[in-house]
Amino acid sequence: MNRYHEIVARYVARTPKSQALNARARRVMPGGDTRTGVYYAPYPAFMAQGDGKYLTDIDGNQYLDLLNNFTSLVHGHAHPALLDATRANIARGTAFAAPLLAQVELAETIAARVPSIELLRFCNSGTEATMLALRAARAYTRRGGMIKMIGGYHGSHDFAAATMDAEADRGIAEGIRRDIYFATFNDLDSVEKIFQAHAGEIAGILVEPIPNAGGLPLPRENYLAGLRALADKHKALLIFDEVITLRLSEGGYQQIANVTPDLTALGKIIGGGFPVGAFGGKRDIMRMFDPRAKNRILHSGTFNGNNATMAAGLASLRLLDQSAIARINALGQALAQGFDDAFQEAGLVGKTTSYGSLLQTHWQRGEIANMQAVARGHQRAQDLPYLLHLELANRGIFCAARGEFNTSTVLNQADVNHAVMIFSETLHYLKPYIAETNPELLVK
Ligand SMILES: Cc1ncc(COP(=O)(O)O)c(C=O)c1O
Repeated sequence: MNRYHEIVARYVARTPKSQALNARARRVMPGGDTRTGVYYAPYPAFMAQGDGKYLTDIDGNQYLDLLNNFTSLVHGHAHPALLDATRANIARGTAFAAPLLAQVELAETIAARVPSIELLRFCNSGTEATMLALRAARAYTRRGGMIKMIGGYHGSHDFAAATMDAEADRGIAEGIRRDIYFATFNDLDSVEKIFQAHAGEIAGILVEPIPNAGGLPLPRENYLAGLRALADKHKALLIFDEVITLRLSEGGYQQIANVTPDLTALGKIIGGGFPVGAFGGKRDIMRMFDPRAKNRILHSGTFNGNNATMAAGLASLRLLDQSAIARINALGQALAQGFDDAFQEAGLVGKTTSYGSLLQTHWQRGEIANMQAVARGHQRAQDLPYLLHLELANRGIFCAARGEFNTSTVLNQADVNHAVMIFSETLHYLKPYIAETNPELLVK
């Protein structure tokens, strides 16, 4: 039995209840779940409980959570302050088909932190947030075309999910695909070329300032400012997807980069662990959502701005002040440095890309400029990203199968040291397998 089979066999031996529940779940849900992004073979562990920084699966295995529901649980699981605020609010009812005070308070809090957001609206997911921001941009500019980056992730509506591969885009409206123009992240020329070829047709540029699901290539200096200038030059809008990157500073990554988008999509941490999205920006654009406006854009949602989400979101942001952000950013950087050192010490070609509390492992070295480069490295590494993830799970570390990690306010330096130690042990354990399948990844 080689290391691959050993790792899977140990995972299966540790998770018999998850295996049984997965078989049962598959009878009513394709694949046994409702989130493609959390699937991994042979089946994902079912979680029974989240408590602070720990997750416990239904077989009783405990994990240090370095994924935090894909960054949304910035205060870990079941944080008492968030639960108390939520309980107090929902004791008075959950949603009323009427506006609520808590919604005003959360809107004020967000607008105060992110100056480019003069007006905003809530929805129930980051998917809706990007979808509605795009609709606003099209309505405002009266143009249909939209630029997005190859490999960028913005949720699951048609525009967001479409790729350049017609075969992979099964079920996505052809009309929507026709309106998408793909550029390469960190490549301003690729954006300029689209504007040149389609003068007067492009409503805007949608970009995640640091593409997290895309593998965390970092924006080069002046790239985001360059996008701003190109959008201005061609009278198009710049839309930042800060669903994830809002956690990097009180004002999101736009504050760090000092670039002001016209519209911003938000989600994750602003819901304190509950379903949420928000989109906002310039008053002139956002006022199209005013029901009193003559040329208004319709926007409704049964659970928009509901009492549970608004209360939890408000408590989440209050706790996440600049000093809390500085702390999780420092922990994230310590984790990234520890992982980088571990790759080096194990004599393996690999590294992290990271910014603040966000990090991603790669089986390659050198600059990783865009999502195509991330994908190429991932493909060349074959089973290694998967095995690293599954063996980390076997050893009690929970991260995304694609090698994505993030830190939360309930972690401390000892947790980081522990995670680095496990990571290092896992690399050493994998090394004989790597020597067989990917000898080019051994440092000569
Ligand atoms: C950058 C980005 N935009 C949008 C979304 C979609 O958010 P949701 O999953 O809440 O629909 C995500 C989700 O991971 C995301 O990472």
